Amino acid sequence: MNIKIESKKTVERLLSDIDLSDMSKADAKLFKLRVEANFPQLFAQLHHVYSEHYDFYYFLQQLLKIMQVSFKKRKPALKKKDKQRLLTPDWFKDEKMLGMACYVDLFAGDLQQLHKKIPYLNSLGITYLHLMPLYKSPEGDSDGGYAVSDYREVDTKLGTMSDLESLGEALSKAGINLVLDFVFNHTSDQHDWAMRAKQGDQEFQEYYWMFDNKEIPNQYEQSLREIFPQVRRGNFTWDEQSQKWVWTTFNSFQWDLNYSNPAVFNAITDEMLFLANVGCDALRLDALAFIWKEMGTDCENQPKAHALIKAFNCCLKIVSPSVVFKSEAIVHPDEVAKYIHKDECELSYNPLLMALIWNSVATRKTKLLTKSMQKSFAISPDCAWVNYARCHDDIGWTFDDNVAAQIGINSYDHRYFLNQFFTGRFEGSFAKGVAFAENPATGDCRVCGSLASLSGLEQGIELGDALLIDNAVKRVLLIHSIILAIGGVPLLYSGDELGLLNDYSYEQDPSKAHDERWVHRIAVKDSDVSLARDETTPFYKIAKGLENMIKVRQQNAIFGAARTDIFEVGNEHIFSFRRKQNEMSEDKSELIALCNFSENTQLVDMAFMKPTCDSLLVNTAIDLLTQTEYTDIPDVLTLGPLEVRWLLLTN
Ligand code: GLC
Ligand code: GLC
Repeated sequence: MNIKIESKKTVERLLSDIDLSDMSKADAKLFKLRVEANFPQLFAQLHHVYSEHYDFYYFLQQLLKIMQVSFKKRKPALKKKDKQRLLTPDWFKDEKMLGMACYVDLFAGDLQQLHKKIPYLNSLGITYLHLMPLYKSPEGDSDGGYAVSDYREVDTKLGTMSDLESLGEALSKAGINLVLDFVFNHTSDQHDWAMRAKQGDQEFQEYYWMFDNKEIPNQYEQSLREIFPQVRRGNFTWDEQSQKWVWTTFNSFQWDLNYSNPAVFNAITDEMLFLANVGCDALRLDALAFIWKEMGTDCENQPKAHALIKAFNCCLKIVSPSVVFKSEAIVHPDEVAKYIHKDECELSYNPLLMALIWNSVATRKTKLLTKSMQKSFAISPDCAWVNYARCHDDIGWTFDDNVAAQIGINSYDHRYFLNQFFTGRFEGSFAKGVAFAENPATGDCRVCGSLASLSGLEQGIELGDALLIDNAVKRVLLIHSIILAIGGVPLLYSGDELGLLNDYSYEQDPSKAHDERWVHRIAVKDSDVSLARDETTPFYKIAKGLENMIKVRQQNAIFGAARTDIFEVGNEHIFSFRRKQNEMSEDKSELIALCNFSENTQLVDMAFMKPTCDSLLVNTAIDLLTQTEYTDIPDVLTLGPLEVRWLLLTN
């Protein structure tokens, strides 16, 4: 079969069947154009996944109707934004971009109160705000909102959908893009679909993976990982009401959706377009690696998961093209890269950079970071990394074992060391982290803790040790310097800008005690903000240092769309990279970043910069962080303990 010819025939038939008379002429024309432009890709992907369903054409018809209705409901202001963004597809690469992720309740109380925090966000320079999932979800444990009971309703404790829409408008006016979660691998077991499935409704039982007995689940189980082994072994949960086993990759109350059923793809597309119409600029594709199940595999990163994400992306481009996808794939670096494409996810978390920065923090060595970034940092110029140091989740050591082996690191032992180090079990460690998801069978675990606590500030304050405190402050700034400068959207985790320490109060809350990630999901109080204004505190030094780096980033185009090269500088404690505008640009300046992960002074032989200096014919540089000018670039540069330089070379 010739897919191109079939696609053309199909879209003609579909469009001739659809009634667009209740749209304005201009809208009807635009809708048709967008459908025609995106249909070949949409058809190819869905055909790949669903062509064996005898009623495939019926589902295409339904899908077109869903898109038509969503298109009609899209507000004029958002349609205007769609047009603008189509002209500026690179918007997320700007040097002004700076993200923050926060929980509505922990950061502000509720959505209405969040309005009042806009000046604070503006003062920090935030241009992108990810609100952690705020939809209706089960009382008590809801996996921090990642168990969604209704995508169209906001958790009543936080406000209403109309509060969310007006917040979106206010943020947009303040120059802040809104990022919402699209939790589409699973729903909560209290979602209407799940409730009906529990009651025995066959149609909705087919929305999930439900089995009469353990026979097939056991076959799948042979090759599956366990994500939360601390709360439940295995990937299936017995449901009393329906008397069936249900696939639950994460918590028992998070039911995996069955995407082998095209009705699920359509229903979820409808929910996705609803969220796009609320007025967000990006959707975070939660746990996207898990959406396709294939017997005999680990059911992660399957080719059909990619096909489905491309299909979702086509629907987005038809109805709400200003919205981009952000991939949340916390998997092997080679697999992370496969989601990053303008037809799939234009933005992606960078879990490898995150994990390896922490590796360098522990080891004070940068070889693994350097080698891994040389291999994996470059992505399509249409896309951007979202670089982060901490987020609401645990840290998993997702580096490539082969890269580690090349430099003589035994991955198994090394991961063990990192877990020991960050949970403070390793003798001499400054970190105060908490073990998460410890697997009783393998002893494996992941790490939780706030940026400041993992960097040594909590221990320094406890011991009243000025040097430990000083080093912790420097570490926090060094880590942030990398995510701010290396290229992509830097994403701060709310509270880290103030150096907040671990909060152990979750241990007293029965709905949270079993999930150590709550140790770093911390309420940001007014008193925390005040403390960071008190010049005598380490929190002040963190807030000030960060403010300075953000200002420098936002004032220099070199931090925007410029390319990145990772350097080896011949000192194992130094991480270095260069930012450079592309060949076509008139701006020939270059930025060289040097980061010293050691608590000791280090020397850097500047010979590695020779080619740059020669090509620019420069011998002077300015350190953007301190405004120090080097009239003669020395042959050997001295970096103080945990010090960072941002050297700008211009001709
Ligand atoms: C994502 C979220 C995490 C959640 C999981 C299940 O990985 O970041 O917090 O537990 O998905 O939704
Ligand atoms: C696993 C998953 C990731 C999720 C995390 C939550 O690492 O791969 O998607 O965020 O668990 O703890």
